Amino acid sequence: MRLFSIVASTSLVLIQTTANPTAAKSANHGNILSYSTPESVGMDPLPLQQMIANLTAYTTPADYGRFSFDAINPIEPGGTVLVGHKNTIVSAFAFGKKNLYADANGTLLPPHLQEAADLDTIYDLASLTKMYITVATLREIDSGTLQLNETVTRYVPEFAVNGKSNITILMLLTHTSGFASDPVPSLFSEIYPTYEEKIKAIVTQGLTNPPGSKFRYSDLNFMSLMVILERITNRPLDQLVAEFTSLLGMQNTFFNRGNVEGPKNPFYWQSAPQEFQIEVLGDGEPQRPQPVRGSVHDENAWPLNGQAIDRTSDPR
Ligand SMILES: *[C@@H]1O[C@H](CO)[C@@H](O)[C@H](O)[C@H]1NC(C)=O
Ligand SMILES: *[C@@H]1O[C@H](CO)[C@@H](O)[C@H](O)[C@H]1NC(C)=O
Ligand SMILES: *[C@@H]1O[C@H](CO)[C@@H](O)[C@H](O)[C@H]1NC(C)=O
Ligand SMILES: *[C@@H]1O[C@H](CO)[C@@H](O)[C@H](O)[C@H]1NC(C)=O
Repeated sequence: MRLFSIVASTSLVLIQTTANPTAAKSANHGNILSYSTPESVGMDPLPLQQMIANLTAYTTPADYGRFSFDAINPIEPGGTVLVGHKNTIVSAFAFGKKNLYADANGTLLPPHLQEAADLDTIYDLASLTKMYITVATLREIDSGTLQLNETVTRYVPEFAVNGKSNITILMLLTHTSGFASDPVPSLFSEIYPTYEEKIKAIVTQGLTNPPGSKFRYSDLNFMSLMVILERITNRPLDQLVAEFTSLLGMQNTFFNRGNVEGPKNPFYWQSAPQEFQIEVLGDGEPQRPQPVRGSVHDENAWPLNGQAIDRTSDPR
């Protein structure tokens, strides 16, 4: 039995950014985060103090029921937490390890190879990337290059196949387009040898429900938004996102363009290993260094060069 499907801590930090409040000064809209006590913003300090011990306790092996696969396992190797309220950071701490396991079965690394989680540990954002795509989309709506209730086809004409001509931007954003959860087959499949074929596979996917009829969370909605954003701006997605994350001083939040693997990636050692993907999910997984560390774990984002890049418009 394979107990540890995900071996690195991923659950706690939503946005990896610097905890240095002055880093955001370039934005300077008067909303710069500062550190203060919970009491200063009307919060009870006790649960915040208890949270440190409580989260750390889950690094201890115990029978946590289905959460530990009904066996004696820890829930998490470690993590990083930042709690803010009213522009004020009231709690910031790291606990446990960012690198603890030698394999997918929970074999521990020898102590000298274990690495502690830190305040600046970088975690895989996975589906939280959708929030960044949403902001990039709303920025285009604000500037008038995109309309919420317009059809996708208006911006990407070749999307109008397989019953998709009435899908709107709003349907993509609200997961009501009718798409299945993921592209089938996966984009790393060898039937799509080139980047262009992978993009074409996204644009020509069929539907499982009529547009607008049903909510179904689907990566395809946000992959389609990527295609639209790149088409209307003629810029790669990572640049569109960096435009506002840089304003926010989020220097440690980025796409790993080109899936730079291993210590060649300048953020490799700062990153938390994510999973032993092949060991857990089998040989059908992308063949890449294990554990996945410092490059996107997602099997559909990875073959798009670690993100959504339109290579034809890539100036680098
Ligand atoms: C953490 O706190 C919750 C809520 O008080 C409690 O139910 C849980 O047992 C605690 N977990 C550990 C491992 O201490
Ligand atoms: C993990 O455990 C399974 C089942 O016991 C075993 O088949 C597999 O070889 C183990 N993997 C490693 C890397 O030890
Ligand atoms: C878009 O359509 C929705 C749902 O039909 C409607 O509630 C909303 O007012 C429309 N928004 C715009 C900007 O036209
Ligand atoms: C799109 O909407 C129009 C008007 O409601 C409808 O006649 C047409 O059949 C729809 N097309 C598709 C492909 O669903």
